[in-house]
Amino acid sequence: MIILGIESSCDETAAAVVKDGKKILSSVISSQVAIHHKYGGVVPELASRMHIESITPVVMEAVQSAGISIEQIDGVAATRGPGLIGALLVGFSFAKSFAWAQGVPLAGVNHLEGHIYSVLLSDSPPEFPFVILLASGGHTNLYYVTSHNHFELMGQTRDDAAGEAFDKVAKMLGLGYPGGAVIELLAQKGDPYAISFPKSYLEKDSFDFSFSGIKSAVARYIHEHKVIELGGGVAADIAASFQESVTDVLADKLINAALHKGVKHFAVAGGVAANSALKRKLLSSQLIATKELQLHLPPISLCGDNAAMIAARGYRLIKDKNFCQLNDDVFSRTRI
Ligand code: KG4
Ligand code: ZN
Repeated sequence: MIILGIESSCDETAAAVVKDGKKILSSVISSQVAIHHKYGGVVPELASRMHIESITPVVMEAVQSAGISIEQIDGVAATRGPGLIGALLVGFSFAKSFAWAQGVPLAGVNHLEGHIYSVLLSDSPPEFPFVILLASGGHTNLYYVTSHNHFELMGQTRDDAAGEAFDKVAKMLGLGYPGGAVIELLAQKGDPYAISFPKSYLEKDSFDFSFSGIKSAVARYIHEHKVIELGGGVAADIAASFQESVTDVLADKLINAALHKGVKHFAVAGGVAANSALKRKLLSSQLIATKELQLHLPPISLCGDNAAMIAARGYRLIKDKNFCQLNDDVFSRTRI
């Protein structure tokens, strides 16, 4: 079964063609980062307009580079939410028109479930049941996944998402938007133990997160030490120490959640899954060395927003006859 996937929930217009929910025939991502960069964050109205401009060429490119004809597509899957309403409407409406015109089924994909499926697209996917940390610009959620349709939310952020904290600290250091990758790069030149930023573990045994405290601590440090004037060395120490604290909490809570559920397989997905300090920390766990736990990561190209993960989730929904109707709407907020 060949599925066309479409993603337009935020600032990436993406389309992909995936066969049998596993084999990526093409994955095209048109990023709007250059446009939003000068505003220091995503401007929703601009995002919608850019999606409108990009959606047709991006879908055409995905179909062409998959080496198939439109008639060979058996179903279309598009992100239905959560995300920016105007942005979602572009991709979802395009998918509705495509499904209607081609007479194929339509699946409305939850973006968060899509991210979970990015790990199932890896060369070594986790077996059920597994625990997964979904850490992106909008979410920091821990799930216990027991089957294709059962995702138990174990914990989530009570304030900022992990990626959002990276973005805000990058902004404070004058590094622009988005911040994750630039903080990671700058951190390589700094000392992760130079500054002791707070690590919020919340109540004992809680699987929730909180990153607003560390964000304020970084802001205070910058203010008190006039860091921007002090130049690169201190900024690198701030980036490294901030990254150290955030990735410590993410790694500890993920491993604790896996132990709590007694699973063998655990995973990370979302933009923050690209962070190599986090990956290093998880891989250096003694539990991996003793083979008690096995870590699964999406390929780096599928950590951020993409349509291959949407097509993979859509394949499952379509196979289960869990279709969307042409009068179904998008949604901005949800949880799974
Ligand atoms: O999954 P994603 O592309 O979009 C959302 O659904 O939000 O995640 C984007 C987020 C941004 O906040 C970005 O700063 C963060 O992921 N990110 C990173 C890295 N690359 C992207 N955070 C830490 N380290 C990275 N290397
Ligand atoms: Zn995302």
